[in-house]
Amino acid sequence: MKKALITGITGQDGSYLADLLLDKGYKVYGLKRRTATPNFENIKHIQNEIEFFSGDLRDMTSLAEAVQAIQPDEVYNLAAQSFVGDSWRQPIYTSEVTGLGVTNMLESIRLSKPDARFYQASSSEMFGKVIETPQTENTPFYPRSPYGVAKVYGHWITVNYRESYGMYACSGILFNHESPRRGIEFVTRKVSDSVAKIKLGLQDKLLLGNLDAKRDWGFAGDYVKAMWLMLQQEEPDDYVIATGETHTVKELIEIAFEHVGLNWQDYVVQDARFMRPAEVDILLGDPTKAKKQLNWEPQVNFEQLVKMMVENDLQKYQ
Ligand code: NAP
Ligand code: GDD
Repeated sequence: MKKALITGITGQDGSYLADLLLDKGYKVYGLKRRTATPNFENIKHIQNEIEFFSGDLRDMTSLAEAVQAIQPDEVYNLAAQSFVGDSWRQPIYTSEVTGLGVTNMLESIRLSKPDARFYQASSSEMFGKVIETPQTENTPFYPRSPYGVAKVYGHWITVNYRESYGMYACSGILFNHESPRRGIEFVTRKVSDSVAKIKLGLQDKLLLGNLDAKRDWGFAGDYVKAMWLMLQQEEPDDYVIATGETHTVKELIEIAFEHVGLNWQDYVVQDARFMRPAEVDILLGDPTKAKKQLNWEPQVNFEQLVKMMVENDLQKYQ
């Protein structure tokens, strides 16, 4: 039986990846932070099938002990301070977790299970103020937030461990991906949750920032399959994972409100508090390499994704 260690198992991607690996017959281990109150919401349906290790990406001892004890075949490093907006409010913390945390994980593997296959959750935020559109594996990085800068560090340290030590280390450059398990502060979930509440008379207004930003949005359930595929190849490599379509925040709102028979203009209010000190105006990925080499194909399109999320939040409040 193959053994996989997932950091960030309580998050959106960690939970979908755990579902996938359990289905494939893996023994799944999860690194979990100690919290005062439990945060098992995303994994409550599989909680008893996972073996947990208490740890934090900033505390290498906890990572090293987990790797030593588990001797994993595969390690998926999904843990991060992942909210771009907060990375200006907590720049040092974000660098330590999202950046340096990757080295802590890689060192833990190098010291006690160097043949483990490693996946790093890199991000399209690394392209930031984009140099070219669409973005490919060869597009230069120009990060626009402390989060983006930390991810560039994580990306390059992963490439360096592959080249320095011959480790099987891959970096997945994933564009935005969403789901009913998405954190509530990210724009898609904020919109789907608010639209459901407005429809049911539980909320009056939806306060948002920049409506013109464009993102290449896909479904998280599709994207975790690409993570797994990257670790099943003969050679480690880096891949862009995206849909190849981009949409504005405004289009997202239009579809979500229309789905419940409401006009977004009656409810959406722009609020400067949700604008960022620097914006990433457009992200559009070219997933050709992943399609060719991994045989990966997204199954859920943008409209289906938005409707799925609104339906889920409607059911929750009903
Ligand atoms: P998420 O829902 O925010 O989950 C982040 C996970 O990291 C949570 O389990 C969180 O634990 C854990 N974590 C945070 N700080 C930690 C620390 N110091 N030590 C250990 N664990 C810690 O993020 P996601 O959307 O699933 O994304 C997964 C990864 O992919 C992240 O690295 C993200 O930056 C990256 N990524 C995401 C996207 C996207 O669109 N979703 C795109 C590209 C890259 P708690 O539950 O305790 O907070
Ligand atoms: N969160 C949020 N809240 N975003 C808003 C709002 C709002 O009220 N109003 C407008 N936006 C705009 C943001 O300015 C941004 O341009 C866009 O909506 C998407 O914001 P988020 O959903 O917060 O995601 P993100 O693109 O900044 O980052 C996500 O995707 C990255 C991959 O490109 C995160 O998942 C990152 O962890 C990930 O790396």
